[in-house]
Amino acid sequence: MRVYISGAAGFIGYHLARLLLDEGMTVRGMDGMTDYYDVSLKRDRLAGLMHHPNFSFAEFMLEDATRLARDIADFRPDAVIHLAAQAGVRYSLEAPRSYLSSNIEGTFNIMEAARDANVGHLLLASTSSVFGANTEMPYRETDKCDTQVSLYAATKKATESLSHSWAHLWNLPTTCFRFFTVYGPWGRPDMAPFKFTKAILAGDTIDVYGHGKMFRDFTYVTDLVRAIRLLIDTPPMRPARPEDIAEGDSLSPVAAWRVVNIGNGEKVALEDFIAAIEAATGKKAKKHYMEMQKGDVPATWADNALLRRLTGYRPETGITKGMAATVDWYREYYRV
Ligand SMILES: NC(=O)c1ccc[n+]([C@@H]2O[C@H](COP(=O)([O-])OP(=O)(O)OC[C@H]3O[C@@H](n4cnc5c(N)ncnc54)[C@H](O)[C@@H]3O)[C@@H](O)[C@H]2O)c1
Repeated sequence: MRVYISGAAGFIGYHLARLLLDEGMTVRGMDGMTDYYDVSLKRDRLAGLMHHPNFSFAEFMLEDATRLARDIADFRPDAVIHLAAQAGVRYSLEAPRSYLSSNIEGTFNIMEAARDANVGHLLLASTSSVFGANTEMPYRETDKCDTQVSLYAATKKATESLSHSWAHLWNLPTTCFRFFTVYGPWGRPDMAPFKFTKAILAGDTIDVYGHGKMFRDFTYVTDLVRAIRLLIDTPPMRPARPEDIAEGDSLSPVAAWRVVNIGNGEKVALEDFIAAIEAATGKKAKKHYMEMQKGDVPATWADNALLRRLTGYRPETGITKGMAATVDWYREYYRV
């Protein structure tokens, strides 16, 4: 199988590419290597892929529609997995425009290129943040979610809608993933698992938002990419009649389009997450309690029933084991 991955030098793209290459697939990656966080981390991830004979890579921005269309057409992928994006809830208050160009225009360019190349399955990364101000938990894909509270989430919800129209108009089978706080080795320096590990190891104080009364569904990256792998083989099919859609399935009544949660299915309190890092580092955290940040939500929690029904997937890694592996990687990579 030939798989095209946008954002291949990113945290999730790197892990996904490794998994697919290990299975004998041919993978082409692209990434604009943006400087939202340390580019040398992206280069080091890439170095871990480049030696593989079935991997090739091109560096350019999604906004270069002509280059993107040519790159995808030349590669002739069976599936395109679109992970490149301007991520991060907090940064979307500082630099909102970058979210419009990377996430809206960039995703549109991917959709056009995928249609033109007759790709069999397009898979797009969305986020649990699209559930916004919803309070009923765990979050289900069939819940109404129209109350995004950050521009990041709003751009991701927009890409879900854009891709639905494309799937309907051009019969392009499309799966949107809603990822729930992904963490693990080679993780993102802007996210709490990395930031807290760094600060606790250095003896620095950590900022604990929402006075520590927040919850997250933390998804270990190895579990997450395994779920993506299973979904590649599960393209949605347009139902013959709306009544054929099973209860709890987000499948569109008019298109080969579906949205699927990928989470751990567990709600972890922020204090328990910090305790897992303390256990892994052997150090006590110095905490500075603060208000919740603008654009953030107090809790996320995935209902994984649809993913399980479609693929048989079950997560294998809880927060204690996952953070221990994350801290091990951090210490080795940064030699601390
Ligand atoms: N990590 C998480 O917890 C999480 C949660 C929900 C959703 N997501 C989504 O999953 C996807 C992957 O996330 P990640 O954690 O690997 O992030 P990441 O930032 O590590 O990877 C994204 C990659 O996209 C590239 N990129 C950004 N804008 C680009 C552009 N305009 N053109 C070309 N390349 C560009 C960046 O250089 C980066 O390497 C993103 O779409 C993100 O929004 C991630």
